[in-house]
Amino acid sequence: MQRRKNKSDHWTTETLESGVCRVTFASRLWVLISSDWHWDSVKCDRDRLAADLAEAKRLNAAVLSLGDGFDAMGGKFDPRSNGKHDVRPELQSGNYFDEIVSQCGQWLDPYREQMALVSPGNHESAVRKRQETCLTTRLVERLRVAGSPVRQGGYAGWVLFRAQRGKQTALHRLWYHHGFGGGGGTTRGAGQFAQYLAEVDADTIVAGHVHQRTFIEAHRQRITSSGLCRTRPVHLVRSSTYKRESVTDGWAVEKGIGARPLGGWWLLLRWNSDATELNASFHDRPYEVPDDADSDSDGNAKPRPVRSQPASRKRRPAKSSGKKKRATRNRSASARR
Ligand SMILES: [Fe+2]
Ligand SMILES: [Fe+2]
Repeated sequence: MQRRKNKSDHWTTETLESGVCRVTFASRLWVLISSDWHWDSVKCDRDRLAADLAEAKRLNAAVLSLGDGFDAMGGKFDPRSNGKHDVRPELQSGNYFDEIVSQCGQWLDPYREQMALVSPGNHESAVRKRQETCLTTRLVERLRVAGSPVRQGGYAGWVLFRAQRGKQTALHRLWYHHGFGGGGGTTRGAGQFAQYLAEVDADTIVAGHVHQRTFIEAHRQRITSSGLCRTRPVHLVRSSTYKRESVTDGWAVEKGIGARPLGGWWLLLRWNSDATELNASFHDRPYEVPDDADSDSDGNAKPRPVRSQPASRKRRPAKSSGKKKRATRNRSASARR
């Protein structure tokens, strides 16, 4: 029976400049892309979050928490506060914001080695504006003192994934923005990616904030100096939340905000079969990668629900592959449902 080794390689983090974090590994890296934990909210599904973090620990995955890690709406002067009705009893003390940070730091301690990046969302920036303290900075400090490799990001920023094997190096460029706007029940915030695409040139673009969970695989083409058309995928990823709103009563119901999916996305980065570049695949949950598949040659690995593979640089463009391409796309779409 084939032995399974699904874990990521050892990885390290660096801050290259403000808002730019680099994660370096050798051949294989799992990444949990998440946002909108709203950890201190009474509505946060901590069991679900803990299960995902435990899975990240099992896989030695790098965890990204891209804004609204805290709900933090129970402060004395916060106009959004609902008295102390929505504040957990253990946070109802004279040092509300301090307790949020210290209790979250304690809760995260078993997973501190998986935390790669924590960045603020509008909930943290609202506290900074009113109370002149940054909860994200305080949490990152606390985790790093405890030995975590975690770095702090901005409201938007870059994560540069670098694979190094011998003398070979390959990059995957992820850009994120916590998000803006309401996200609309029908569009699920998909239109906002048009703006992001106009602003950045990345392999993966991630947003959160609207508490929707979507994945779009776009492709962009370029023409080489010798006149050959080349395409590359751009993954447009919306990570959802761990906050479980009531669907029968309360603010979200009155605003017409329906039930929201929970959780983020699992990204697997591996060398391609030519060992020339990194392949990225996105999953609802991690799958077992065969031990001997350090490159992307394990075509039988299952399941592979959301998949992308950059076009080989050596391959000439197909003359009339329209039908075949459509069929492939349909297969991917049905696998995603
Ligand atoms: Fe949020
Ligand atoms: Fe948000």
